[in-house]
Amino acid sequence: MFTTTPIPATASKTELYEEAARQMRGLLRGEHNPVANAANFSALVFHALPDISWCGFYFPDETGDGLVVGPFQGKPACVRLSHGKGVCGAAVTTRRTQVVPDVTTFPGHIYCDGAARSEIVVPLFRTDGSLVGVWDVDSYSVGRFDEDDRIGMEALCLQFIQTLAVPPRRQPAAS
Ligand code: SME
Repeated sequence: MFTTTPIPATASKTELYEEAARQMRGLLRGEHNPVANAANFSALVFHALPDISWCGFYFPDETGDGLVVGPFQGKPACVRLSHGKGVCGAAVTTRRTQVVPDVTTFPGHIYCDGAARSEIVVPLFRTDGSLVGVWDVDSYSVGRFDEDDRIGMEALCLQFIQTLAVPPRRQPAAS
């Protein structure tokens, strides 16, 4: 059984993300199932990092044009997001992490929880540049996310993406 280690409240953001990354390495090690890893990734971030009201994944939907919710932690969320809409859509179209200190100032922000006040969304791409989805984190606090969070969340997301590269199966020895 995996147990998360409480991170001291006195830790700096850098220390916080270093410890979260250490725990994430142990949690994801050897597992390549994307659903399981997305679920555990969401749970670890939600319980390890402070002042997060919701965190989870959106993946390309059946059309390949919009996004559909994946594993997450927090209140029930919007299931589908149309192409280019919201903070998640901006992350996909710009291919850049969106750090939103105050969602009321982001044109087209989509409220899944009316109490959300800040957000960070990391677009996820494979090494060939194809879209995996987005990692979305909300907070009830204005200004919760900054450059340290962008660096830390992107580093955590890279761990998730790296689990998707499934090592080639060992071929059974020729009989
Ligand atoms: N706020 C996001 C929608 C997803 S909810 O936050 C979970 C957006 O504007 O894309």
